[in-house]
Parts: sequence; structure tokens; C-alpha cells
Amino acid sequence: MNLKGRNFLKLIDFTSEEIGGLIDYAAELKRDKKNGVDHTDMHRGKNIVLIFEKTSTRTRCAFEVAAHDLGISATYLDPSCSQIGKKESIADTARVLGRMFDGIEYRGFGQEIVEEIAKYSGVPVWNGLTNEFHPTQILADFLTIREHFGRLKGINFVYMGDARYNMGNSLMIGCAKMGVNFTACAPSAYFPDKKLIDLSLSYAKESGASLHFIEDPTEAVKGADVIYTDVWVSMGEPAEVWQERIEALGKYQVNDRLMAATGNPDCVFMHCLPAFHDTKTETGAKVCEKFGRTEMEVTDSVFESKASIVFDEAENRMHTIKAVIAATL
Ligand code: CP
Ligand code: NVA
Repeated sequence: MNLKGRNFLKLIDFTSEEIGGLIDYAAELKRDKKNGVDHTDMHRGKNIVLIFEKTSTRTRCAFEVAAHDLGISATYLDPSCSQIGKKESIADTARVLGRMFDGIEYRGFGQEIVEEIAKYSGVPVWNGLTNEFHPTQILADFLTIREHFGRLKGINFVYMGDARYNMGNSLMIGCAKMGVNFTACAPSAYFPDKKLIDLSLSYAKESGASLHFIEDPTEAVKGADVIYTDVWVSMGEPAEVWQERIEALGKYQVNDRLMAATGNPDCVFMHCLPAFHDTKTETGAKVCEKFGRTEMEVTDSVFESKASIVFDEAENRMHTIKAVIAATL
């Protein structure tokens, strides 16, 4: 597999062999790291820039640690400190950064922004989350599922909640490409865009995956191996939408009853994180004060249960992002 010089903007751009290859490579790099194998010679002397127009813990740290492990120096641009979009256009910024850096990570708003950076910079560009897609997260999710179940193909994967945003979209495409049976469970207004569903159905035909869109939670989770959820209000959305989301998505909360409804005692719980499973965050406390809910998309009981593999998943962000950087630079 040769991905040198390629961008990593969305899973649509990659074949199932390439996605599988990146997951294999991440597993190898993870093993090496645990065994103390040094890879700082691999890309020694290179420089990458990390643009974050939205906040981050996992993605930023994963890029920085991965870069360090590969001998690369990383420059972080936070949401307020650069000229991007305010005093300088995306195309101009991309051309400047492309002259100084060997690779560019972008986290921010519309997918068209990261695509434009890729068009103008002349160096590999990696999508660290846009409104539409979060492709590096899916690599980590799939590595975690593979470690846990020993395979991806044939796994029954259920996504609960807002399925028309970055996580729902990317998971649907990834599952369809990799032969994972995907169910989106939400009110129909929260299902992914019809065009994206049609595209995913065409991938599913090739891979053998089945795709389902179900409104009833109990019906959707029957036989699930993985239940996945994400926050009900994503970064960049106004606080006013909390009310409508709580009303629309409240019954899609992942709780003990829902886990039991799978009928599968080995079903695992996953979440890209951060998660609102208690009131120990500023937002969690505010939402609790306003709406009287102490838990949102997942209960504390499920989050802290043996079924929850969210911290393995979070660790795998680093190993998979390392694979993407190492393979494309
Ligand atoms: N899952 C994820 O992207 O986390 P961060 O927002 O902390 O980067
Ligand atoms: N849908 C979430 C994902 C966070 C990793 C958001 O965009 O905020």
C-alpha cells in the first residue's frame, strides 16, 4: 500500500483495502510503541502544522504525540491565534503553510474548507474533524472493534442519536466500506443525508454490509455487538438547540435498559468522547440546571460499565493518526 503524498480528508476517498491497510499499520505501530521500538528516524526533520478552529483534547494530543514519535516537529495554531479566515483567506493561508510545512492538519467547520486547503497547499492535508466528517476517529473506532472482536466484517454496529452529523456520516461510510452491518437509530429527521445513504448503499453492495435506518430503539439494538453514540449538540452549534435535541433524542439515550435490549451480553459501548454522562463538566452542569437532566446521550452506569471500551478507543486515536501521518508524508 503506497499512500505517500495523499490527503486524508474523508473515507469516501479511500478503498476498503486502503482503510484496512491503515488499521493494520496502526496496529503494528501500536505494538512497536508498547515494545519500545523507536521510530523517530522515520520522518526526522519534518514539520507539520495543526490548525484547530474548534477545541480538542484527543485529536490535538494524538497528532502531537504521533508526530513526536515519528521525529516530526508540530506547530499548533489555536482557534484564536492565527489570521485564518479573519485576515487571510483559506487559499492564501494554505499556500503559505504549504511553503513551510510537510503536512497540515485541519479541524474546523465546513468540509469545503479542508478540501480547499488540500487544493492549494501542495502537501498532505489531514481532516481532524469537520461538520460533515471525522475520518481519523473511524480508524480508531475500527482498530478498537478489531482488537475486541478479532474482526470487523459481520459486526452489528448500532449508532444512536444525531446520525446526520460528522460521526453518523463517517461511521456509516466506514461501516459500509468495511463490511460492518450499520444501523442508524434516531428520529427520521436525524438520519444521514439521502445522497450519502445512497453512496453508502453502493459500498455496502460490494462489502456485504447491511444498512438500516430505524426509529425504534428497542428494535434497532436487537443483536447489536456495538452500541455507539455521540453528543446531542456538536461543537459550533448554538446552545439554543439543546432543548430540541433533548426532546428529540432523549429516548435514544444509551442506558442499561437499552444495553439489555440487545440480548447480547458481550455487546460493547463506544463513544468518540467527550461524553455527557454526568454533571462534572461546565456544559453538563448548565444543561442539568436548565433541563433537569443529569445524564445526556449515555448514562454514567453504562459509561463506567465493563461493556464500555471508550478509553481503549481514545488511546487508539494516537496509534491510528500516527499511521495516517507516517503513511502519507
Ligand atoms: N474524539 C475527539 O475528536 O475528541 P477531541 O474533540 O478531544 O479531539
Ligand atoms: N459530533 C461531535 C464530535 C466530537 C468528537 C462534534 O462535532 O462536536
